[in-house]
Amino acid sequence: MNIVLLGPPGVGKGTQAKILSTIYQIPQISTGDMLRSAVNAGTPLGLQAKAQMQAGGLVSDDVVIGLIRERLRAEDARNGFILDGFPRTVAQAETLDRMLAESQQQLDAVLHLTAPDEEIVRRLSGRALCTRCGAIFHQSSNPPRQAGVCDVCGDSVVRREDDSPEIIRERLRVYAQQTAPLVQYYAGRSGYASVSAVESPDSVQATLLRLLGRGRDG
Ligand code: AP5
Repeated sequence: MNIVLLGPPGVGKGTQAKILSTIYQIPQISTGDMLRSAVNAGTPLGLQAKAQMQAGGLVSDDVVIGLIRERLRAEDARNGFILDGFPRTVAQAETLDRMLAESQQQLDAVLHLTAPDEEIVRRLSGRALCTRCGAIFHQSSNPPRQAGVCDVCGDSVVRREDDSPEIIRERLRVYAQQTAPLVQYYAGRSGYASVSAVESPDSVQATLLRLLGRGRDG
């Protein structure tokens, strides 16, 4: 199953990708996570990406496409993948189509998650992440059992640097300008669906599974 999760920052792509990854036993491929690892490791690519990420802008298509091209060749992506945060521009989407065609593959589902901006700001303003395993929390709606400590692996839970109010606003602006056109790009293709993500994570998950043919009714 080759899945793209499309949607604005903070809509819940990472939350849903982790659940789908466990259910389908295919990797969650998050360009944001890959870029943050590169930044934290201080690699040349990380140094190149850092300024754009801190400012809420997009990293260049060339850099991100290079990362994805290599990641999709890995053994664990042979039976499918969940792309979380990629593609983010029409150029990235066109390249992904070409890459998949070269290996006689295609996308099975493009699931577009939506929520109003005020809900996104609420989610991102309270989000906290585990520094080791990437588990996602929210300070009011899904707090870790012990403040600052990950329920899953016991490491530290921290805020993301780009989850400050002004950078959230910039990320939403960049999404509207550069990523929202992808809805038009994918709409009408088989496997495309727009899903309201304002309900609870469990409820959103049930909708996604139904669309993927694995729900109780599917
Ligand atoms: P990235 O890491 O991809 O960030 P993003 O797209 O802004 O998405 P987020 O991770 O912020 O949100 P999410 O949708 O995963 O929500 P989450 O599940 O965490 O990218 C970061 C940066 O890297 C970019 O700004 C850019 O610079 C660069 N980059 C990455 N990919 C790139 C690309 N392809 N091209 C160029 N540059 C790229 O949930 C958020 C919060 O809401 C959590 O607290 C969660 O608990 C809560 N929540 C989730 N679902 C629900 C629900 N249903 N109800 C209530 N709360 C919920």
